[in-house]
This record gives sequence, C-alpha cells and structure tokens, in this order.
Amino acid sequence: MIVGRRLLRGTLFDFVTDPSGGAGAVRLVQDGLLVIEAGRVVAHGEYVVLAPRWLDATATLDDHRGSLIAPGFIDAHLHLPQIDVIASPAPGLLSWLERYTFPAEAGYADPARCAESATFFLDELARQGTTSACVYGTVHPQSVQALFEAALARDLRLVAGKCLMDVNCPENLRDTAAGGVQDSADLAARWHGRGRLGYAITPRFAATSSRAQLAAAGELARAQPQLYVQSHVAENLDEVRWVAELFPEARSYLDVYERYGLLNRHSIYAHCIHFDAADRACMAARGAVAAVCPTSNLFLGSGLFDFAAAAAAGMAVTLATDVGGGQSFSMFSAMRSAHEVARLRGQALDAFRLWYWATRGAALALGWPQVGTLEPGAEADVIVLNLRATPLLARRTARAGSLEELLFALLVLGDDRVIAQTYIAGQPMKPAAAPTPTAANTATS
Ligand code: GUN
Ligand code: ZN
Repeated sequence: MIVGRRLLRGTLFDFVTDPSGGAGAVRLVQDGLLVIEAGRVVAHGEYVVLAPRWLDATATLDDHRGSLIAPGFIDAHLHLPQIDVIASPAPGLLSWLERYTFPAEAGYADPARCAESATFFLDELARQGTTSACVYGTVHPQSVQALFEAALARDLRLVAGKCLMDVNCPENLRDTAAGGVQDSADLAARWHGRGRLGYAITPRFAATSSRAQLAAAGELARAQPQLYVQSHVAENLDEVRWVAELFPEARSYLDVYERYGLLNRHSIYAHCIHFDAADRACMAARGAVAAVCPTSNLFLGSGLFDFAAAAAAGMAVTLATDVGGGQSFSMFSAMRSAHEVARLRGQALDAFRLWYWATRGAALALGWPQVGTLEPGAEADVIVLNLRATPLLARRTARAGSLEELLFALLVLGDDRVIAQTYIAGQPMKPAAAPTPTAANTATS
C-alpha cells in the first residue's frame, strides 16, 4: 500500500517552456488531477483519465474545482528581520537603513527573537503563496540558524545567509572580515544541502564590507562554488556614488563584486537598476541572476529597472519583494509593480512573462529544474488560486477572455486572499478552506 498519496483536482496551470517560445509555452488542463507522493508530483493530467488509476481508498482528494492549481511563487530576495520595519517612511534607501533597518536588526542578537520571527516570516510566505525564497538574516548567525531550523521542519526549499558587514554600520551590527566569513562557512557546513536548504554568502552590500571581508567572501565562494552568493547592487544613486568613493579603483559598482570573485552562476544580485551596458554584459557572461524588486524600488524611490536592456543583454531576471524595502510579501504585488515600472519606461511585460519570472523562470535561473513546474518528478510546491476571492475578482475573472487576461487580472487585483492553499512538498500549510464553488469559471487559453 502506498501511504500518503494526495490528489489535487482543479484547473492545472504551468509553463512547459519560456513564454517567449509562443503559445505552446503554457499548459492548462481544465479538469485536471495532480497526483503527489512523498513530496513529489507523480502524475499530471485529465481527471477522467487519471482518477481510475490513482483515486483509491488510501488517497486524500483535495477538491479545488473552480480554482487554478499552479506552482508556488519564488521570491528571489527579501529580509527576515525587516518584518518589523516594513512600511516605514524615509526619503531614500540610506536614511531608511539608518533610521529603521539597522536599529531593528540589532534586536536579532536575541535567539528567542530570531525563532519567533522565523516562524512568523515563514507563515507569512505560505499565506502569500510563496513556496521558495532567498533570504537575508541579520549579521547574527543565530538569525539564520533559527530560519533554517524552522524551514527544515517545513521541508522548505530556501536559501539564506547571514549578512557580512564589518564597516560603515553601527558598532553593534559589525562582524569582522575573517570572523564573519568563518561564521558563514560554519553555517554553510551545517545547513547547505540539508533537506532543501541552501546557504548564501551574503555581503550586505559593498558599502558595508571592507576589502578584506570581500576578499575573504570571494575566497569562500571560490573554494565552495556550490554555495550561493547574494548581495545588493546599483539600487540608489546616493548609494552608487558612495560605493564609487569607497572603491575608486572599480570601474562600476558591480565591478567591485567582480573584482572579488563574487559573480558566478550561483549569485543573486538585488536591484541592478543603475547599470550600464558593460555591467549588464558582465552579469550575463557570469550567469549571475538579477533579483528585480519593483515594489521596493517604487516605495523607496530608488529607480526603474530597465527590463528591455536586461533582456537584450541576456541577463537572467527574477522577481522579488525585498521586504521590508518592499511594502508587500505578495508576489502579485511584485508582478504588478514590474508591469508599472515597465510602463513608466515605455516598455511592456505581458502576464505570462511576469508570472514566469515569479515561478518557473526563477527556478531555472536559480538552478532548480525540479521546481516551478507541475511535471511528474517535480517537488510538489503548489498553490491554489481562488479566482473568486473577492467580489471584484469574481466579476472580473468570470469575464476574462483568455488565460493571459485572467492571469493579468489576478496579478493586478490579487493579494493573499487569492491564495486558497499552499502545499509545501505536498503538505498543505493552511487549514482546509471552505468548499470552492464548482462553477467552471476558469478561462481557457
Ligand atoms: N542595501 C543594503 N542593505 C539593504 C537593505 O536592507 N534593503 C535594501 N533595499 N537595500 C539594501
Ligand atoms: Zn534587500
């Protein structure tokens, strides 16, 4: 007898290729069945075809007819401790860091605070339909320790790292060049590859690391190329000027990281706004991933990411919330703001493109082919989207003339109320929802 088989019935939606590949990129099964065993998808297809084989007395059937069943969202950049300063006003990045962020992060010296925050943070990700994320702790190793412990208990696919910061920040938030990197190596040895966890070497940004610390971080990245690297780059013009003063030898802000060996296929750079053509070419050549954070960039007034230039250069792009510079955990918000940023630049992003960057595209950019898809063999990180979550959504989605129109309405009007269920490795994270209306109101492509 196979124990623990879970069947999800509803409208299945995922990408089979990049949406630039045309109509065949999207897969939709109106009355579909997703079969999950031991945390993985084992079958995907029409309910009428699969049910006779898989629906037996040992199986749990979750009936989500009327809703979309899709891969969960991936948030490529956000900060654990900033749940306490999200939605704080400031004239710009640097004063926001000084006035709100650094004081809040000092509280994470306390392991009890770290544990409480980690639970809140992971609950919030699940509520918002985010099933994987790349996360910054504070400078304190215990912040990342607590996050990994909580994430392992949920079998989450999660990347995290302790911030490296040994200069230009408050005394009580400083590590040392060697000590900070040693703490990172110790955390990586303990956590990287355990369950679905990954460690990221995390120089906070060039301005808060000495040359010695960046060199030691680069050395660790070279010695252990399986580890991720994450940092901020070219977010805000005052910050760009400051980094240019601190590192006059570098050609550009990005070049600081390049000089220290911190650009590789496992590196994730947040923002990437104030780039020139050489920076974009360098990102593409190194295979580094841009985590674009449009809600944060609008909220802090940092600037407008150039999607067209990034695409022309062949940069890998993902979307991220950057909580708490970003004012929402919702990847709907990130997609909506990306659309708005593109419009302000006279560019256009369609719903498939935005949704792909928030799911399958991010998974592939981060080197996770087994994620962001409903294909058999995939890790069963899945969300259920209630198209009737609000009266306005019910009205609008019922009138969607195509799948693309439906997804666009969802990403513009949607928030956590749309997320009816989040499955992590096949396990539901929310109490069972009230029965979903079975009226077939899902649009076809
Ligand atoms: N640059 C350095 N630290 C931070 C941070 O915490 N948030 C953002 N948005 N940018 C940063
Ligand atoms: Zn950030």
